[in-house]
Amino acid sequence: MSTAASKKLFIKTWGCQMNVYDSGRMADILAPLGYALTDSAEGADMVILNTCHIREKATEKVFSDLGRLRPLKEAKAGAAKAEDEPMIVAVAGCVAQAEGEEIARRAPWVDLVFGPQTYHQLPEMVARAHRQAGRPLVNTDFPVESKFDHLPGEAGTQGASAFLSVQEGCDKFCTFCVVPYTRGAEYSRDAAGILAEARRLTATGAREITLLGQNVNAFHGEGPDGSVWGLARLIRALAEIDGLERIRYTTSHPRDMDDDLIAAHRDVPQLMPFLHLPVQSGSDRILAAMNRKHDGDTYRRVIDRLRAARPDLALSSDFIVGFPGETDRDFADTLKLVTEIGFAQAYSFKYSARPGTPAAALDDQLPEAAKDDRLQALQQLLWAQQGAFNQGMVGRVIPVLLDRPGRRPGQLQGRSPWMQSVHLQAPAHLLGTIQPVRIIDAKQLSLTGTADLVAPDLVAPHLVSEEAA
Ligand code: 5AD
Ligand code: SF4
Repeated sequence: MSTAASKKLFIKTWGCQMNVYDSGRMADILAPLGYALTDSAEGADMVILNTCHIREKATEKVFSDLGRLRPLKEAKAGAAKAEDEPMIVAVAGCVAQAEGEEIARRAPWVDLVFGPQTYHQLPEMVARAHRQAGRPLVNTDFPVESKFDHLPGEAGTQGASAFLSVQEGCDKFCTFCVVPYTRGAEYSRDAAGILAEARRLTATGAREITLLGQNVNAFHGEGPDGSVWGLARLIRALAEIDGLERIRYTTSHPRDMDDDLIAAHRDVPQLMPFLHLPVQSGSDRILAAMNRKHDGDTYRRVIDRLRAARPDLALSSDFIVGFPGETDRDFADTLKLVTEIGFAQAYSFKYSARPGTPAAALDDQLPEAAKDDRLQALQQLLWAQQGAFNQGMVGRVIPVLLDRPGRRPGQLQGRSPWMQSVHLQAPAHLLGTIQPVRIIDAKQLSLTGTADLVAPDLVAPHLVSEEAA
């Protein structure tokens, strides 16, 4: 047997921030079993691929990674001393949920396959995997108990900027999307558990918390008093936590942007002026075919109200081009909506037919070349908007949360209120704090600043010049 705290755990994460959060929690659950994170699969005692099923490309990569893991597992078995345990290879996340049996068939050297709702059972699953070595254990149930009631209270530290999962699953059933099938029905955690986790994160250095959910603004968790809390109520309660200076939430649906949440953008200074609100398309015909449950004007009105509440709000969105039946005219409506609204950043994707979703069965699928052309045109427009938005920051002094060391010595990186990456020369002891930074240059994806406005009692001047030299 390996000794406690001596086992190496490698986790590779694809996809959304929810997966990043889940991977962190898996590491927390495995820590008491003696697993510590390592940064390579080679020689690891356990490898978890935490996967994404949202588009075809992400799914394909899992199988090619599994192919590369097989010889590593065999090499470890070959080199092992008699008392050593073999490498456990696990596939987690949404590909595991959707294609559990297929993975077991195509990659029988996998030990464990488990979906996003069952990872709290990891200790039992690992023990069983050791017992039944040679046969993949597939666990893709949607258990009746909530995993959140079974996760360890002590989450590992996440640094100055932390994620906190508050809601999972989706009942919207957009016709292109696998999420309602892989993540299941909407579920909201209770507010007391979320507030306790937020307090723990803040006590260990988090200055910013991003609330996560597939449909986070549909949050309707039980409050400490037994009533149902919406997201706005939760945000107001989080804003009471001392030391928690920034709150964000993602991802939202336009239909769930209620009055109270819009008002929170006006009233809660900690709620950052940046919102990711996917619209997917600007064409009413395509929005209907996507079952988005709103049209372009409804989206525009929501944005108008948000901007009235918080005039400096910057917006981000997701777009799909080449949805089945999308005409040039439909696509022109998308470009029109983008031009009218103006986005600070956005993600755009070619439509990818996902097995089991209604849109995959539609007849009028578009050729790849048409999707390529539209993606390029849309990205050009969004790219220009993002560049202009960043350029508009030059000369301003903005608060930056310094959350990471920079690439070069003496540098730190941080985030603006509008999610821009900011690079600057600054002493390491400012890591984890929010500082005023003068923006002196803007690139497509980041800003450069100087910390010359940092309060002199916080930075000894010799430190700044030394670091900058
Ligand atoms: N094809 C392309 N993009 C998709 N998305 C979700 N499903 C698909 C699909 N089948 C995109 C949507 C969503 C984001 C997370 O991924 O834009 O908002
Ligand atoms: Fe998928 Fe639509 Fe739900 Fe978003 S709202 S997770 S796109 S089904």
